[in-house]
Amino acid sequence: DHERTFLMVKPDGVQRGIAGDVVSRLEERGLKLVGAKFMQISQDLAEQHYAEHEDKPFFEGLTDFITSGPVLAMVWEGQDAVAQGRRMMGATDPLDAAPGTIRGDYGLDLGRNVIHGSDTEEGSAEREIDLFFDDDELVDYERVD
Ligand code: CMP
Repeated sequence: DHERTFLMVKPDGVQRGIAGDVVSRLEERGLKLVGAKFMQISQDLAEQHYAEHEDKPFFEGLTDFITSGPVLAMVWEGQDAVAQGRRMMGATDPLDAAPGTIRGDYGLDLGRNVIHGSDTEEGSAEREIDLFFDDDELVDYERVD
């Protein structure tokens, strides 16, 4: 499917200067950047974004971390963009993530795993995109390969 996904460089990635590399990898893979926002996430937005984890023991640490510094929130478009994004991110735990994936190459631990991406569950990408972006903040243009 030609679709959109939500991908976000987390505070650890921004602080360590990896944001540009993450963008480059996604561009080189052929995905098209259609929205980007460099921002600080509020507590309220963090709780909404990670609502599915609200009963988990790591929820408070997770929302504290994601609000601790700026993130680069992005929308990427392409063929099977959600699955492609997840393949490129690698496993959630950097110890399990394959070399060549973003988390496998740069991730430090479960929390500081550089990037978040929408999961393949139906409606998940749309929900996250709507949470972070207004319609008029997403642009369309031709990518020339
Ligand atoms: P992310 O893809 O952003 O979605 C939820 C995040 O919770 C996950 O990446 C991890 O960074 C973080 N996290 C922290 N502790 C855990 C845990 N024990 N299991 C799964 N995710 C965790």
